[in-house]
Amino acid sequence: MQRFVLAALITLTTFGGNALAESFPSRAITIVVPFSAGGPSDAMARMLAERMKTSLGEAVMVENVTGAGGSIGVGRAVRSPPDGYTISFGHLGTHVANGAIYKLGFDLVSDLEPLVLLPSNPMIIVSKNAVPAKTLQDLLAWLKARPTPAAAGTAGAGSGSHIAGLYFENVTGIKLQYVPYRGTGPAMNDLVGGQIDLIVDQTSNSIGQVRAGNIRAYAVTADKRLSSAPDVPTTDEAGLPGFHMTLWLGMWVPNGTPGDVVRKLNAAVVDALNDPAVRNQLENLGLQIPPPDQLSPAALGAWQKAEIAKWWPMIKAANVKVE
Ligand code: MLT
Repeated sequence: MQRFVLAALITLTTFGGNALAESFPSRAITIVVPFSAGGPSDAMARMLAERMKTSLGEAVMVENVTGAGGSIGVGRAVRSPPDGYTISFGHLGTHVANGAIYKLGFDLVSDLEPLVLLPSNPMIIVSKNAVPAKTLQDLLAWLKARPTPAAAGTAGAGSGSHIAGLYFENVTGIKLQYVPYRGTGPAMNDLVGGQIDLIVDQTSNSIGQVRAGNIRAYAVTADKRLSSAPDVPTTDEAGLPGFHMTLWLGMWVPNGTPGDVVRKLNAAVVDALNDPAVRNQLENLGLQIPPPDQLSPAALGAWQKAEIAKWWPMIKAANVKVE
């Protein structure tokens, strides 16, 4: 009897899965962005969603579910049905660092299936214009001379901007006072308004304000200058050699999503990344599109595991306290 129930269940799941994959998608798909609207994750998700619609023939919406360094939004996606209609959008912070900081109640590797690696970008060290420094060396001297730590905006504990700040503290020995926001969109508004001193930010989030002269850029955390920001020196050139960090992004679906559904979604994102108009928008923000052989779900899975092995020791050693 027990064997019969099991066999029936397997048959149901298999047929159910095939039927789902054939008709997929038959309604709108939601991409859960775990940070505020107007920030870099939100901007990339909206660019891709717009083009994914053309490949999938259904609406692709972005839902911002913010808080706790992005872990609330990731949890919302993890607990959704594994049917391809909910996609978890995230990055090195949400899908790697958060596992070393929060008691998540889910596993970032086994409760999600990788969908696709997305464009990456180096971080950029930026300050409000009122900071009296013109170069990275001036900025380091100013930070060291202060009686109290400068206020550094982040998208919450475990976010990309927070890990970059921790890494900056690590290489310079300078302490920062973190000011957490629900995304670096609102953190950027406060930097421009002068309420906080600096952000070690994703280049894609800062570059427009740097070009407009609303904030000051000191260095990009890469070994080569960006064609989109040719005037900004690298950290190697500006006096912090080896301070390199690339923030990569990706998409996942809940574990158990049928393979054919994963393939359809992956193909829709790859189509978007190959579209010249989308590429142009991404490159203009300083984002680097992964080579074609890095765009499979397996490539993201392998990369995420390698990044967990690389970053967890440093993040755990930093002993980050969360509410
Ligand atoms: C981060 O710092 O993790 C992201 O830039 C947050 C965001 O996308 O708003």
